[in-house]
Amino acid sequence: MTTERANFGTKLGIILATAGSAVGLGNVWRFPYMTGQNGGAAFLLIYIACVVILGVPCMLNEFIIGRRAQANTARAYSKLANGTPWRLIGLFGVFTGFMITGYYVVVSGWCLQYIYASVAGHLNGDASFVKNYFDTFAAHPWKPVLWMLIFMLMCHFIISRGVEKGIERASKLMMPLLFILLVVIAVASCLLPGASRGVSFLFNPDFSGVDSKTFLGALGQAFYSLSLGMGCLCTYASYFKRDTHLTKSAVQIVAIDTLIAVLAGLMIFPAFFASYPDAASKLADPELAGQYSGPGLVFITLPNVFQQAFSNAPLIGELVALLFYSLLSLAALTSLMSLHEVSTAFFHEELNISRKWGAGIVTALCALIGVFCSLSYGNTREWLVFAGQSVFSWFDFLTGQIFLPTGGLLTCLFLGWYVPKQIVKDELTNEGTLRGRFFGIYLFAVRYVCPICILLIFLHQFGVI
Ligand code: TRP
Repeated sequence: MTTERANFGTKLGIILATAGSAVGLGNVWRFPYMTGQNGGAAFLLIYIACVVILGVPCMLNEFIIGRRAQANTARAYSKLANGTPWRLIGLFGVFTGFMITGYYVVVSGWCLQYIYASVAGHLNGDASFVKNYFDTFAAHPWKPVLWMLIFMLMCHFIISRGVEKGIERASKLMMPLLFILLVVIAVASCLLPGASRGVSFLFNPDFSGVDSKTFLGALGQAFYSLSLGMGCLCTYASYFKRDTHLTKSAVQIVAIDTLIAVLAGLMIFPAFFASYPDAASKLADPELAGQYSGPGLVFITLPNVFQQAFSNAPLIGELVALLFYSLLSLAALTSLMSLHEVSTAFFHEELNISRKWGAGIVTALCALIGVFCSLSYGNTREWLVFAGQSVFSWFDFLTGQIFLPTGGLLTCLFLGWYVPKQIVKDELTNEGTLRGRFFGIYLFAVRYVCPICILLIFLHQFGVI
């Protein structure tokens, strides 16, 4: 078969689609609560160090493998692995992708419900009212499932249109919109009376609370936020052009992702501090973690924060909530597209079926996983609870804390120690047409620094250190 492989059409498309994968719930939901729990500015600084030291080299790994092999993640690894067991990393990535998609789409569905709820004015009430609203909704037998399915279908529609007409076009439309929404809400939030305490929480570092957990939390967050560890970026890189400057693209994408995380902080903390006089202690109190972090922050606390912050002008509060959940949905959708594409490309190329059929299989399977994840949330149905944790929490834990770092670690070892150096250098320098000044640093990072850092995350998670 000699059919042309799909490609992204433009440089801007490459950056926006890949940044779209990186920017997601991880930036707007997970980053703020991690920052809140870990003392604000100090965490931000450590996080930035992590994305530079760990994020850029690991992103380059995936770019190199994907663009070299010009194939879906599973085949890309096996092409470079020459039949050795290293090829299994790619397959493992595809498998992990299914699991992440299954619970990611559930949270995305919640965002849609909240768009509806902010328009319908359902979020007006005190803190316990909103908490009750969220709990009742998330445990409802069909509402969250319905929104989840709608979100999955939106993603399906885009993916089945193809790489250039689907993913690239959608990203070019959605990413600028997301950025504008983010800036508008961040400005509104920073103009509130009392907002400056939130701004200084984010930018005035206090290193007194920093411990090993802060470092490892930042490392894990860098991984998640940059979509590393399961071949999302590898699949996208297989659609890059031969003359795409990999190092430059990686740096740009990391910069965009970090900028958006900071803007998300500027959107949330000033409003949070403006609404609660005791904001700092609320964030630091582990007893309150269930409400002020995790799903709680975005779906329970924020509706309330918007209401209180704009209590003089309730309509503005509602509008801000509406814009916020629209933004969150956009961010989630572009990330979900990249997760979906990993498996779609896999079925399309491995089973030799059309892209549309490939996408159809993925959508059906992920929707099925999503139904179980959704029904299991909050442990309300016993048959979906294993060892005290719901299927939802299991998938979140297994993928985020075990599978992704494992994938990242193995990929570093694979490229650093197994794949011939010349191949890696050729890709990084576009067959010698670029100077490749950073090749030495990159190789050192991939051989030693990254594997050791990732290993530390692991040891920490299992309580060894
Ligand atoms: N990076 C995305 C976010 O910040 C989530 C995501 C998409 C992801 N694809 C991934 C995370 C692959 C890990 C691996 O929300």
